[in-house]
Amino acid sequence: MSAPVDATTTAAWRSLTTLKAGLEPDLRGWFAADPARAEAFTLTAGDLHVDLSKNLIDDAVLTALVDLAEQVGLAERRDAMFAGEKINVTEGRAVLHTALRDPAGAEVLVDGTNVVPEVHEVLEKVYGFADRVRNGEWKGVTGKPIATVVNIGIGGSDLGPVMVYEALQPYVQKGLTARFVSNIDPTDVALKTADLDPETTLFIVASKTFTTLETLTNARLARSWLLHALKRSGAIGDADSDESEAIAKHFVAVSTALDKVADFGIDPANAFGFWDWVGGRYSVDSAIGTSLVVALGRDSFADFLAGFHTIDRHFAETPIGSNVPALMGLLNVWYRNFFGAATHAVLPYAQLLHRFPAYLQQLTMESNGKSVRWDGSPVTTDTGEVFWGEPGTNGQHAFYQLIHQGTQLIPADFIAVAKPAYPLDDGGTDVHELFLANFFAQTAALAFGKTADEVRAEGTAEEIVPARVFSGNRPTTSIMAPALTPSVVGQLIALYEHITFTQGIVWGIDSFDQWGVELGKQLALKVTPAVGGDETALAEQDPSTQGLIRYYREQRG
Ligand code: F6P
Repeated sequence: MSAPVDATTTAAWRSLTTLKAGLEPDLRGWFAADPARAEAFTLTAGDLHVDLSKNLIDDAVLTALVDLAEQVGLAERRDAMFAGEKINVTEGRAVLHTALRDPAGAEVLVDGTNVVPEVHEVLEKVYGFADRVRNGEWKGVTGKPIATVVNIGIGGSDLGPVMVYEALQPYVQKGLTARFVSNIDPTDVALKTADLDPETTLFIVASKTFTTLETLTNARLARSWLLHALKRSGAIGDADSDESEAIAKHFVAVSTALDKVADFGIDPANAFGFWDWVGGRYSVDSAIGTSLVVALGRDSFADFLAGFHTIDRHFAETPIGSNVPALMGLLNVWYRNFFGAATHAVLPYAQLLHRFPAYLQQLTMESNGKSVRWDGSPVTTDTGEVFWGEPGTNGQHAFYQLIHQGTQLIPADFIAVAKPAYPLDDGGTDVHELFLANFFAQTAALAFGKTADEVRAEGTAEEIVPARVFSGNRPTTSIMAPALTPSVVGQLIALYEHITFTQGIVWGIDSFDQWGVELGKQLALKVTPAVGGDETALAEQDPSTQGLIRYYREQRG
């Protein structure tokens, strides 16, 4: 891949610097002066209705941001990604999560081979497996149908499935439940299996590499739990063949490393593959979503994939000036680099999206938390902001104070759907309307604030007036959709994938590696013997770590 363009040396960057210096944010004034502002800055992508008008932008800023995209070659890089070029430079890999949602019949070549037929082959295998679990044909070792699937995975092999499972609760088949074990804290597996019936439980071990310490440890714990419980109840005997049969009926796997799956004792016939060109944090739409296919069924999963594809086409085909993911990514650059915004809030007004901010943390921060560019040179400006958030209205009663009146600028994305999943009435009041009134009110309050005169007009004592003033001009983007369908969830994920990509291209970084997670993993392996009592290993640790381990050992006894 050619060297990254240094965005900070472009003419567009210079224009943005000048525009920022001259900008006097005045959302009240801007809306008053231009009644068409909301309409002009509202765009559509698939089912997503996206209002950018409460951002600190005017036409000149938007034009300069679009110029920036052009001058760093965003469209060319995007096309290279869709075409299967090896844009993940440090790992020498193509980046083709978009191929996972291409319709059968599409063609995407990696090293001369069209990968789309293979994608659909695996998808059909997952669908067939899920059908058998859902209709009771797949039985546990004692002949009972499966009632609970437990996905064992971490990072991208957990966050996507759990987020989507929560988001699409109304679509989950009655009588089937999914659980998600991720943490190597033994509490996680202990609590999640405590009330389960092993005869009706199926484990899905999901790991791209099948080497991840947490996942393999949890998978072994689950295997022991299953075999002990089945033996204790007399459901199976002690023979190796009994154990193998139980594992075959209660364990399947998802991985790119099918040889390692076999080593673990899972029949490769019960394993679903994917490819090294799918990054972990981009993999919920691969076989990593098997737990979702079981819970939701093939039709809903196909709808979910179609949602991604809609936004992929929008990103691939829409001119940058009306390309929603590109513009949202460029806005994030505007705030990160020209306003110094270190964090970005994502605030879903949909309880079912309560894990969406956590999901986005891996997507955005593992992708863009980098200090070197894809040619190894240092970055030339700040990169990855911290993404965080909680659903509204809960956040309103926790951290919104700081967003409204704190000293730092926190751009925020507000997300809501029009049709509630569970419409409820409180004595004649539609509670979802009450809920959405907060969504609308918060973005207005952040944008337009409250002046000292308005506070005084309410009869507030003069000495309290300053504390009750809201400066306004706190930027938000509002994203709305008709309902939280599988397609809309897919669209939201794809939207943020492409936002993340856009930012990475402007900064010249490889958004698809994650070397920064390696050091801690290596050190944990080195420290483990010391924790277990090996004095030589303990002596090799730094004094602080030695002290902490000694404290642990004394307390543990
Ligand atoms: O530790 C980071 C990471 O490599 C993530 O990128 C990945 O999603 C996660 O670990 C889990 O990896 P695997 O699916 O290979 O178990």
